[in-house]
Amino acid sequence: RFLKLFKSPSLIAAHRGFSHFNPENTLKALEFSVGRCDFIEIDVQLSRDKKAVIFHDQTLRRTTNIDKDFKVYELSYKELSKLDYGSWFDGIYEPMLDLKTALGFSKKHKMPLNIELKDTSEFCSDAEFVFIVLSLIESFEMQEEILLSSFRHEYLAIIKEMQPNISTAILVEDALPKNPIEYLVALDAKAYNISDELADAKTVKSLRESDIFVNVYTINDEKRAKELFFMGVNAIFSDKLIK
Ligand code: G3P
Ligand code: MG
Repeated sequence: RFLKLFKSPSLIAAHRGFSHFNPENTLKALEFSVGRCDFIEIDVQLSRDKKAVIFHDQTLRRTTNIDKDFKVYELSYKELSKLDYGSWFDGIYEPMLDLKTALGFSKKHKMPLNIELKDTSEFCSDAEFVFIVLSLIESFEMQEEILLSSFRHEYLAIIKEMQPNISTAILVEDALPKNPIEYLVALDAKAYNISDELADAKTVKSLRESDIFVNVYTINDEKRAKELFFMGVNAIFSDKLIK
């Protein structure tokens, strides 16, 4: 159960599968992360034929061998699966990772996943994208072992309509909502996943006093990690701070 994790203090989430050591969001990165973190964070979006693939950027240029600014949804699953996701990082080929494979891996290794839904609203309706992701999670019967998060909060509302048993986290970057606690209750979310800039002692304290989980991205400095845990932060997302 994902939420059980939050009973323990000072959790480490492998951000994109500890992207300091691995080509991000690949199976190799997931394998590296097992035994070195409490859960793994990956990003999901859609191919042109609406298969859920694990990928961070909107365009393929930075982390594949394509040097044009194609968007992920402009290529089919088959086209995406022909690309190399590792060589840009360390010269070693890595295949595409899709959500199905990531879920299978997570189940096999009992490794909880935080799946971040990237904003695909330019290409696909909110309900359809959420439905595709939830269907896969349900097919593995992993509803309670996953945390879903997004900067696009519309997704979080739809997730709860479709599958109330799944835990969600509200991703924020620049500012918390005006009434963060009411906002979270309205979305029936369990956590705020906030940027380092937003993580001050007062904010963290007030959220934690209301039993809201607080997770902070992206923390690669050991001293800052200690500070955040001392404030009461539940988890940090890190590219390199291993357990
Ligand atoms: O989910 C935490 C963090 O991954 C959010 O930002 O851009 O690294 O996906 P980003
Ligand atoms: Mg992410």
